[in-house]
Amino acid sequence: MSFEQIKKTVFFQIKEINNPNELENLRIKYLGRKGELTLILRGLKDLSIEKRRQEGPLAQRFKKELEEAINKKQKEISGFNSQKKNQLIDISRPGKRVLSGHLNPLTKIEKEIRQIFLAMNFSVVEGQEIEDDYHNFDALHIPKDHPARDAWDTFWLKPINDKQLKAGNKPLLRTHTSPMQIRYMEKYQPPFQIIVPGRVFRYEATDASHETTFKQVEGLMVGEDISLVNFKFIIEEFLKKLFGEKIDFEFRPSYYPFVEPGVDVYMKWKNKWLEVAGAGMVHPEVFRAVNYNPYKWQGFAFGFGLDRLAMIKYKIPDIRMFYGGDLRFVKQF
Ligand code: DAH
Repeated sequence: MSFEQIKKTVFFQIKEINNPNELENLRIKYLGRKGELTLILRGLKDLSIEKRRQEGPLAQRFKKELEEAINKKQKEISGFNSQKKNQLIDISRPGKRVLSGHLNPLTKIEKEIRQIFLAMNFSVVEGQEIEDDYHNFDALHIPKDHPARDAWDTFWLKPINDKQLKAGNKPLLRTHTSPMQIRYMEKYQPPFQIIVPGRVFRYEATDASHETTFKQVEGLMVGEDISLVNFKFIIEEFLKKLFGEKIDFEFRPSYYPFVEPGVDVYMKWKNKWLEVAGAGMVHPEVFRAVNYNPYKWQGFAFGFGLDRLAMIKYKIPDIRMFYGGDLRFVKQF
């Protein structure tokens, strides 16, 4: 075939092609090592100088055009094929798994606890993590120099103004959620029943069941004729709903300055008794601090260690795992 003949036919041929094999055959036919155009180009050297000058550049340009046309077609064909593939959706194939985050077990159990108490007509309120001496201790009947303060090793903060400094009302990171009892009663009148979930801080050495920060759920129910009987009923209901009917728990006498009598709640865990809450009947001095008449109002209060409840519920051996940030841990919940 002559150069002119090829030029006439090849572009039509490319146009008609619609699969990669045909296109490859065409490329070999013209541009392969023994391809027709290749042979023509190779034959140029045998022509006279003038002819070579005339035809050489034309032939080179044509070769380039042909290569471009083939490349373009190739793109077209592969695009067409992949589009076709996409159209064939196999609806019986399993879907791609969507990766989602995980809730920390403490968040999970807190949500559950909120629901349980809401269902028993309690309100959920939250306090502040930066508290002061008065609300965290004094108003809870733990005056300065009271030995009971030793039970709450405290992260004290620098006073931020003269007023705090003079009043001796030093700021601190709350050591328990109990100060919210005071703040709530300063603002509202009984009867009411609330829980206060929240984070607390202790200046302590850590071990498998102690952390410098952990979570508590405070409870407070105040009204006329509230007694320990009401307390026992609420606690038993709560624990049964959280852990199921077959739980082992007991109440033991205890001491906290802000209650009288004081009670501790213990649960059986790994054949040992573990303290999960402090509680008791609200001390008259606490009512006096918020201008309630202690002859008129009675109430009970409790403070659960949320981490301990979560350790029992999810069988977690070490409290420090909650705060370690290890994804292998969190992903299990
Ligand atoms: N605030 C106490 C603590 O952190 C726990 C506690 C004890 C809370 C007795 C109460 C209570 O409300 O009545 O150790």
